[in-house]
Amino acid sequence: MIDNPIDEIKKRIDIVDFINFFVPLKKTGRNFKAICPFHQEKTPSFIVSPERQIWHCFGACNEGGDVIKFLMKWENITFVEALRELAKKTGVILSKSTLEDQIWKKKERLFSLNQKASDFFHHLLLKTSFGKQGREYLKKRGFNLEITEKFTLGYAPLSWRSLLRYLIKKGFSMNEIRDSGLVISERGRIYDRFRGRLIFPIYDMKNQIIGFSGRILKDEKNEAKYINTPETLLYRKRETLYGIHLAKEAIKKKNEVYLVEGEFDMITPFMMGLENFVATKGTAVTKEQLMLLKRLTNRINLSLDADLAGIEAMKKTIQESEGLGLELRVILLNFAKDPDEAIRKDFVQFKKIIKKPQPIYDFFIDLAIKKNPEETAYAKKNIVEEVASIIDNIVNPIVREFYIKKLSNLIGLSVKTINQYFRQKRLAEKQKTPSFIYLRKKEGEKRNVLLEKYLLSQLFQEDFSSKILPEIIFLLNEKDFVIPAYGKIFTLYVEYQKEIKDNKKKFNIKDFISRLSPALIPVFDELYLYAAYENEDNLDLERVVYEIKKNALKREIRDLLKEEKRKEDEKKIKELNRLLSEIEKKMIKLSI
Ligand code: UTP
Ligand code: MN
Repeated sequence: MIDNPIDEIKKRIDIVDFINFFVPLKKTGRNFKAICPFHQEKTPSFIVSPERQIWHCFGACNEGGDVIKFLMKWENITFVEALRELAKKTGVILSKSTLEDQIWKKKERLFSLNQKASDFFHHLLLKTSFGKQGREYLKKRGFNLEITEKFTLGYAPLSWRSLLRYLIKKGFSMNEIRDSGLVISERGRIYDRFRGRLIFPIYDMKNQIIGFSGRILKDEKNEAKYINTPETLLYRKRETLYGIHLAKEAIKKKNEVYLVEGEFDMITPFMMGLENFVATKGTAVTKEQLMLLKRLTNRINLSLDADLAGIEAMKKTIQESEGLGLELRVILLNFAKDPDEAIRKDFVQFKKIIKKPQPIYDFFIDLAIKKNPEETAYAKKNIVEEVASIIDNIVNPIVREFYIKKLSNLIGLSVKTINQYFRQKRLAEKQKTPSFIYLRKKEGEKRNVLLEKYLLSQLFQEDFSSKILPEIIFLLNEKDFVIPAYGKIFTLYVEYQKEIKDNKKKFNIKDFISRLSPALIPVFDELYLYAAYENEDNLDLERVVYEIKKNALKREIRDLLKEEKRKEDEKKIKELNRLLSEIEKKMIKLSI
């Protein structure tokens, strides 16, 4: 019997191997680095430490943790769900108490509720007179029994409470029924959400029903063509890909996926043997959806509407996908409105077109050129401007250079000029950081805090050796740090350095950590990983130290001035001012 299953799970998994499976990691020094999978960025700020078995994102997320936390974020699941998954993977047996999780239980109930509802709809469609209209509709659109069963399509009768009554009879509570999103409750009245509609159960990757969508049978102007389950504990629109449960194997096998815009645009290709299609619900592709697909393939072909809204949606998709290492391509159907219609019109032509998707960057360059066909300077300027945000933001340097060259060839301007234009644009945005030490500063983060973080992060690198270490130890003390925890860690560091010097030992990070109180460990972890994040070579440690000291002295002087005047204070202020000017002189010397 294992005492602590959580520790055991973590012992059996190496965080670097684990995360590397999802996000390619690059070694930098003792740590590993990557583009953060949880937010959009161009320079990597996601750091993984093999020694500490933790990760941290120093970018927009500013979050980190262990392997469990990573999986929670990656799959957007709860702690217990992640634990279960990892337990299964490592063969660790979880005791009952670890599994006491309300949310998990509630989800299980909702899954079984959805399953019951789906059985109800499916039965009505196939076996009863109520479903006749639905059957006729499917027949009209060319779907046979086999496909209807494969997708467990259903029919919701034109009635206010038949599903509600059925679910109550099956033992679900009113709360559970409400939480499923299958009913609408309004001013004390409660009734079925889906009425008189063809029903599409929506499955997740694990073949569980997370929600439903329903189509009206006769297109009418004053009713929504499709309605869907609202956001529930199970159904999150941003993460939903219709058909993923049936398409996932084919996507893996063919190593590419076609992303389309509606239920039928997924089902019809499937019926015709094209099984690697999944559908969004007519909205822009989200990062969550892309990450889900990334587990299956890197090659994503978008077959979306090429109207204005569709194009904006695609631009957004590119932004979402930069850094995920995906290969996005575009399919334009020029003879039909959507894949469902295209297949019915001309299957041969459809198959031909989907075999030749256009890389999305080419698509946008072509589009810009088509929009500005004139041979004028301004047309060229417009073209570059239109694609700048897309091409200049390409994270992969090879892909980026390839497209800058391509653009250059197509519009007859040199690569140099295009790059210059991009650089100008970027510089204009960056101009806000004037200080001589450039640190990647986040909204609301104080420069002083960054300097402290940087200094400490450097000190903890095991291979750290600097001529100025004695000076740092001599110059700085605990109260020079704005963040008290940093000051505390610094003091412990100084003590440790003295000790290893006296005993002629080598710096050992584990040894040092054992001296930290539990409260300081997370602070330390963040500092430790920060070194891999902020390793710009323009950062001169000496300057950092002086700047910290300068600011500390200024603070001290200011505080003393605020207080009542006492003789010894005056003396102290004088001394501090002398020190300050000494530091300032040193700083000037360094700048020359
Ligand atoms: P479309 O309007 O292009 O419909 O919406 P469609 O896919 O061609 O549908 P059919 O062929 O007429 O049956 C694209 C998708 O957007 C979602 C649906 O998923 C739809 O398939 N949608 C559309 C809604 O969620 N609500 C709506 O009111 C309309
Ligand atoms: Mn359609």
